[in-house]
Amino acid sequence: MGLQAPRGTRDILPAERIYWQQLEATARQILDRAAYREICTPIFEQTSLFERGIGEATDIVGKEMYTFQDRGDRSLTLRPEGTAGVVRAYIEHGLYSQGGVQRLWYLGPMFRYERPQSGRYRQFHQLGVEVLGSADPRADAEVIALALDILKALGLEDVTLMLNSVGDRDDRAHYRQALVDYLTPYAADLDPDSQDRLHRNPLRILDSKDPRTQAIVNEAPRLLDYLSASSQQHFEQVQSLLEELGIPYQINPTLVRGLDYYTHTAFEFQQGSLGTEGTVCGGGRYDHLVEELGGPATPAIGWAMGLERLILLMGDRPKEPSPVPHLYVVTRGSSAERQGLVLAQQLRHQGYIVEVDFSGSSFKNQLKRANRSGATHCLVIGEEEAAAQTVQVKWLASGEQEQVAQADLLSAAGRSRLFGEQ
Ligand code: HAM
Repeated sequence: MGLQAPRGTRDILPAERIYWQQLEATARQILDRAAYREICTPIFEQTSLFERGIGEATDIVGKEMYTFQDRGDRSLTLRPEGTAGVVRAYIEHGLYSQGGVQRLWYLGPMFRYERPQSGRYRQFHQLGVEVLGSADPRADAEVIALALDILKALGLEDVTLMLNSVGDRDDRAHYRQALVDYLTPYAADLDPDSQDRLHRNPLRILDSKDPRTQAIVNEAPRLLDYLSASSQQHFEQVQSLLEELGIPYQINPTLVRGLDYYTHTAFEFQQGSLGTEGTVCGGGRYDHLVEELGGPATPAIGWAMGLERLILLMGDRPKEPSPVPHLYVVTRGSSAERQGLVLAQQLRHQGYIVEVDFSGSSFKNQLKRANRSGATHCLVIGEEEAAAQTVQVKWLASGEQEQVAQADLLSAAGRSRLFGEQ
């Protein structure tokens, strides 16, 4: 068998890449308008960053990381998510000393050793935002509103915002104890994964998809009943801001998310048609992470979207035609071929999209390819045209054509007459 891309990875071929470009342009515009600035962090980091940041008891750290020793015997890990690296960079570069709130975004590949299926890969891409330096519920509402703006701008109308509060550390410690006390008598009835989590990471049992475990969990104490007065107040303020912004949500008391750093607001946007892989965006507050990784106490909130999932959902949108004329150069004979190449370079310098046919085949075959290429015009140079330094300009949609001097094509007036204003 020939070589194949590794399991869980995929090539993005040019026809699909158009959607990725649209997605990135849409996100960039929406985030620019809200004064978010782009940040890029390395694709691999020290393993300890993720162990400390995401939590040793999580599935991500326990089973899904791509960890390796480099040639200098350092333990490195391909990033499974973006938040830990952004927080590391925030601390390392003292971004907190610039005062105020840092609003950051990023886009890039992430790596998790998961069981691949549609919408779930081992290399996947996230678009994420992180707002560092504000505990204000308006920050929670702003990031949620921006996520919804992006999803809607991409044509995903049918998404549901699931909202919960996981409280602060103390709230969670009380709740954790109550949950373990409640679940222990049922331990033997839980699914094996949940039995394993009972003492390691009991809150994740709330997320179990096993029907028997779910039935037990349905009667369990609710995290929302263990929130302190101030956690409760924060959660109510976030809800009332979402209402003012006209953003509908559903409270889901079992939404706990798979990373340990969350405090207070936790949320996900879910899209029905993708089934279990229907979470297109997940995020929440992480008010202690900066401090835990060695920085000053800094409240923060963010989210990340899985871009492969968005692309699957955007899949059947028509591609927009390019606003720039696309010219296809057809030549025959060595002098014509040389002139065609030079003309193409000169027109590219003027901002046109120019594709040169290198096949050396008959005019008929080259014209067929011109028609398939998506070009608006074909520039034909045969031996006669080459001798006279002219070119046949052919409008591919109508089949009309006109012979013009090459010098005319290179003058602004001639080009705008033939191709319209640029
Ligand atoms: P997460 O929920 O682990 O959160 O991932 C966010 C999103 O990435 C998911 O909702 C999903 O759309 C996508 N995703 C995750 N794993 C895969 C996969 N194997 N294949 C395809 N897509 C996937 C985080 O990563 C947090 N860092 C989000 C965050 C930012 N919280 C605060 N700030």
